[in-house]
Amino acid sequence: MKHALVVGGTGMLSEVCLWLCSQNYHVSVIGRNTVKMSRLIEQVDKGKITSVLVDYNKVNLLDIHLKQTIHENGPITLVVAWVHTGGEQGLAKIIETVEQPSEPWELYHVLGSRAKLSQVKRELCIPKNCHYLQVQLGFKLEEERGRWLNNHEIAEGVIKAIQRKAPTSLVGVLEPAEFRP
Ligand SMILES: NC(=O)c1ccc[n+]([C@@H]2O[C@H](COP(=O)([O-])OP(=O)(O)OC[C@H]3O[C@@H](n4cnc5c(N)ncnc54)[C@H](OP(=O)(O)O)[C@@H]3O)[C@@H](O)[C@H]2O)c1
Repeated sequence: MKHALVVGGTGMLSEVCLWLCSQNYHVSVIGRNTVKMSRLIEQVDKGKITSVLVDYNKVNLLDIHLKQTIHENGPITLVVAWVHTGGEQGLAKIIETVEQPSEPWELYHVLGSRAKLSQVKRELCIPKNCHYLQVQLGFKLEEERGRWLNNHEIAEGVIKAIQRKAPTSLVGVLEPAEFRP
């Protein structure tokens, strides 16, 4: 079975975790809140999701937990990461720990509407084996106003991005800027 890691999979990426399970992935999910984690796990057959209950800012602990799930469930070949500003060290640790010289893997980096995609990419140390792809979250236009995307729209957009494998994808729109909520 293939092994995927979803960072922030108990929040807006919950539906992405469920979809990956349906695509025959074992899914390791990073989050801190045990109630949110249980709510996700109870939606799939037993053993399909491994909870990685850790604060990704605690990089030493994160490394230990990641190595454990890799040991138990095999090399990770797909990562979907929604990491808040300030969590850059956590993402760098994930990249370092997931990387395996013999195994190519994909990283879908989910980013907010203000992210500068090329700058974000430049600032990350992407190993040769890693296929790095970005999914930017914009907003939704509705009649005469803009509103933020809901969890379902975000998950749907991320799933489409994984299916398309395009280097960059946009969920919703970024223009007209004056409609930004
Ligand atoms: N452009 C847009 O339209 C847009 C963009 C962003 C967000 N939103 C909306 O705003 C809502 C709230 O956004 P949100 O950023 O709070 O997203 P969220 O996905 O609902 O929550 C953040 C996720 O990351 C995990 N997380 C956060 N910090 C962590 C840490 N230090 N270590 C480990 N895991 C961590 C959380 O788990 P724990 O709680 O267990 O730590 C949770 O799974 C979303 O649900 C979405 O609907 C819209």
